[in-house]
Amino acid sequence: MISSRYAAITGWGMAVPQRVVTNEELARRLTTTDEWIRSRTGIAQRYVAGPDEYTSVLASRAGRVALERAGLVPEAVDTLIVATCTPDRPFPATACTVQANLGIPRASAFDLVAACSGFVYGLTVATALVKSGMSQHLLLIAADVFTHLIDWQDRSTCVLFGDGAGAVTLQASSERRGLLSTNIGAWGEGEALMAVDAGGTRLPVTPELLAARRQYVSMNGREIFRHAVRGMVESAERAVAEAGLQLDEIALVVPHQANLRIIEAVAKRLGLPLERFFVNLDRYGNTSAASVPIALYEAVEQGRIAAGDYILLTAFGGGLTWGSSVVRWG
Ligand code: UT7
Repeated sequence: MISSRYAAITGWGMAVPQRVVTNEELARRLTTTDEWIRSRTGIAQRYVAGPDEYTSVLASRAGRVALERAGLVPEAVDTLIVATCTPDRPFPATACTVQANLGIPRASAFDLVAACSGFVYGLTVATALVKSGMSQHLLLIAADVFTHLIDWQDRSTCVLFGDGAGAVTLQASSERRGLLSTNIGAWGEGEALMAVDAGGTRLPVTPELLAARRQYVSMNGREIFRHAVRGMVESAERAVAEAGLQLDEIALVVPHQANLRIIEAVAKRLGLPLERFFVNLDRYGNTSAASVPIALYEAVEQGRIAAGDYILLTAFGGGLTWGSSVVRWG
């Protein structure tokens, strides 16, 4: 990207539901064990939304924290993006509900759908808006109540996911900070590898589809695993090269938190030590689009990221979609 105008990340926030569901609790309901879930995924627990904790509620909580951290009043925000594949309703956009909740007057508000890659896609779009001068103060939230799409009788998927939201504010800056390079992509031929079939215009819900549990996520875990590693590694290498950096100049990698074995495989293929990767999936599971900004929030709060550091965000999800971005922390 050639521009002397940058989009600095000036605030960060996160929110999760109240209720924790441990592996032991799942093992009491399903034919699974804490040992299987931990050894195959690294997950020990996840947060699961209650009826009053739908997507806009978590998104608004995370957005409010980010605005406070940035010292931004709601009136200053001119653009609000919510990355989600689990909106409150088919329409209007969840972003419009969040805009009203946060008291952000008149800002443009829209949702962006890229499944677990939603935050990296969103940061790419958001940065372009700020760098072009079309936005001065932007709020990007990634929020999913993915457990809403889960068949709690299907042990191969329900142990993996949790709910949450993460947010950042972007502000125009003349200093070289914020997103420096990005590589996002998709492979639509792989759409069936992870999908919810029923409930859209292609297969409107019928009693037969509900009985066949087609309103829930189906997933080919092994294939997704393979594509995830390749998508994250290749996009990461491209983003780092485009930023004019070497991989060993990256202070911290903040990856999508789907499976510790995926993160280990990505680290190995990139030739980076696992200690250079931020991992918190043991406590949250896979929170879909929210996973990268929740990890980013915790990394900053734990002092793992210092001003001037180059960090690499990398994600992968249904679509199939993937994306990696190099960010200079400011
Ligand atoms: O954001 C992207 C979202 N998607 C993903 O991240 C998925 C990526 N894939 C994965 O993380 C892994 O493929 C899984 C964790 C989903 C599965 O791990 P795996 O090592 O690929 O296991 P598998 O699917 O090959 O299944 C191995 C065995 C099977 O039994 P059999 O056929 O070998 O007898 C499964 O039925 O494990 C069984 N199994 C379970 N056993 C106990 C599957 N789920 C469970 C479970 N508890 N929860």
